[in-house]
Amino acid sequence: MKINAVKGFRDVLPGETEVWSRLEEAARRLLIGYGYAEIRVPAVERRELFARAAGETTDIVEKQMYTFDDVDGTSLTLRPEGTASVVRAYIENGLHGREPVSKLFYLGAMFRRERPQKGRFRQFHQIGAEVLGREDPLVDAELLVLLAEYFAALGLATARIEINSLGCAACRPAYREELRRYAEARKQTLCADCNRRIERNPLRVLDCKLDAERTLDAPVMVDFLCAACGEHFRTVRALLAAESVAVTLNPRMVRGLDYYCRTAFEIVAEGLGAQNAIGGGGRYDGLVASLGGPSVPGVGFALGVERLVLALRVPEAAAPFDVFVAPLGDPAEARAFRLARELRREGLRLEIEPGRKSLKSHLRRADKLGAAFVLIVGDEELSRGTVVIRDMRGQRQLEAPLDAPSIVRAVRRAQ
Ligand code: HAM
Repeated sequence: MKINAVKGFRDVLPGETEVWSRLEEAARRLLIGYGYAEIRVPAVERRELFARAAGETTDIVEKQMYTFDDVDGTSLTLRPEGTASVVRAYIENGLHGREPVSKLFYLGAMFRRERPQKGRFRQFHQIGAEVLGREDPLVDAELLVLLAEYFAALGLATARIEINSLGCAACRPAYREELRRYAEARKQTLCADCNRRIERNPLRVLDCKLDAERTLDAPVMVDFLCAACGEHFRTVRALLAAESVAVTLNPRMVRGLDYYCRTAFEIVAEGLGAQNAIGGGGRYDGLVASLGGPSVPGVGFALGVERLVLALRVPEAAAPFDVFVAPLGDPAEARAFRLARELRREGLRLEIEPGRKSLKSHLRRADKLGAAFVLIVGDEELSRGTVVIRDMRGQRQLEAPLDAPSIVRAVRRAQ
């Protein structure tokens, strides 16, 4: 019986992997330039980490985590996001003791048991960045400048940044109560999910697609910000305006994780259908302390690689071969096999196929692979100590000595 991949878990094949590499390399280059260092954290953590970080009442923790008991009974979870793991690693490894500020980035697979659809998978990949130890609005603005630079570098013109402020422990409780009262008064008209949310997590009422129309006049956090949060948010937006980074205020954005405070943002792109968020992030000043660490503020983002690839919609051409080695016959094959190794060592991208093929079929294959040159190694050439170099574009042929450095020189000259 044929065994297929698990629903929501997909293969990324050649043709698409080239786009992934380009995205990842561009991100690495940019992040390193902005002072970030890479961190690699495990794919599995204790369930408790995500429950405490993201919040017990979020959809992610309530419905979407892959959780299982280890043999010793420990409840383990495949990470649904990277921030909690990075903060755990930051605390556990005492990074706060080494540097006052840590700027960390990561790339990797995340797992959420959502209903699969276009742009939504159960295993997906994020490029994420976290700054720990900076409270100032400059760093929030810098993250968004970095993202704008990234989208420009990729040629992704349709990415739009939405921003909001979610207040802090001083001003959010009063807003939360106001929103709770608002929703309570409209209980009858709101969906079953929202009815559950009213007491447990009223902010999530604003996120409900079913009730969006019915809550248009709901109070919003930006009207309740304390002086410090108001000033922080104004400065972030002023810095972005001065840098001509366009951001749209979305006062109803609440994000799907409970650790956020102050700046929150989402990046949306056109043409992706319902799953149009290619990234999101924000500030989480209380998270490090709530996970048992020191009182250190944090801010960061994560981009969804699958959605970035969909938004880019440019199939990448596979890298062409420099050389195709065509041995003609068995004795030539062994010599050509060694030559191929030597030429690859010299840095040529090269393919070689077995000697029991006609020259015609070798040339057809070389053409298919887009090889610029074919090295024909036949018995006659072998006895003369030479190879024939055929230029596939110019259709010219020349004979060169059968040694790697002279072949490389001849190929480079002809290129
Ligand atoms: P998030 O908004 O939950 O934030 O996820 C970030 C991005 O991951 C989304 O915008 C989306 O592109 C992608 N994503 C999420 N779920 C899926 C899925 N099922 N299939 C495909 N792509 C998906 C976070 O995860 C936060 N940790 C971001 C952050 C970092 N905040 C502060 N620092």
